Amino acid sequence: MRILVVGATGLLGKEIIQQLSPKHDVIGASRNGSAFKVDLSDKGSIIAMYNDAGPLDAVICVGGTAKFAPLDALQDSDFAFSLDNKLMGQVNLVRCGTQKINPGGSITLTSGTLAQYPMPGSTAISLVNAGVEAFCRAAALELKGMLRVNVVSPGWVAETLQQMGRDPSGGVHASVVAQAYRKCVEEDFTGQVVSAAR
Ligand SMILES: NC(=O)c1ccc[n+]([C@@H]2O[C@H](COP(=O)([O-])OP(=O)(O)OC[C@H]3O[C@@H](n4cnc5c(N)ncnc54)[C@H](OP(=O)(O)O)[C@@H]3O)[C@@H](O)[C@H]2O)c1
Repeated sequence: MRILVVGATGLLGKEIIQQLSPKHDVIGASRNGSAFKVDLSDKGSIIAMYNDAGPLDAVICVGGTAKFAPLDALQDSDFAFSLDNKLMGQVNLVRCGTQKINPGGSITLTSGTLAQYPMPGSTAISLVNAGVEAFCRAAALELKGMLRVNVVSPGWVAETLQQMGRDPSGGVHASVVAQAYRKCVEEDFTGQVVSAAR
């Protein structure tokens, strides 16, 4: 399969590419440092990326961010940033990809367990993650037979907790999270939110 990973230079992106590369032709995209350039918050750049990348069998998105801050500190611009970036960026990746991904192919998006298990500071991220999951379930119904759409919902990743100076023992390793993306690409299901949490 020819697979495009958006967010290729990140923690999960690098791990996914390492796991998929022996078997598949994997190419990467991000704002900086990848073979293909894309800014998920800019629909025009998503269209340009698909045109540059050529035929694809699968797309995996582990890019896009949302703001983490207390509710009373979040500005309108923070919500707009979060919605434009991790939510509409992934929605537009599907909308623009329907004509670009080979029939029978797949798109795998990313949410996160803050959708179901929020914490103080996560209002914008929880909103975005839940939106990604709801969009996936609904889009999969309409795209059935053409394109499979799934979501991986990672829990805290151990390497990220370590980077933050927190105890990594409660986290799930990036290599385990990457297996959930591989499953979404290689197995034949759609409309699913696959949990990759401890
Ligand atoms: N790590 C965790 O503990 C954890 C837990 C739950 C969910 N998640 C979710 O998993 C995903 C990946 O996490 P990660 O830890 O691998 O993140 P990461 O290490 O920060 O990597 C993010 C990747 O996305 C790219 N990116 C960021 N904004 C982008 C944009 N607007 N357009 C295109 N590319 C963009 C980055 O490259 P550029 O900056 O060059 O564009 C980078 O390649 C995120 O959606 C995150 O919310 C992570």
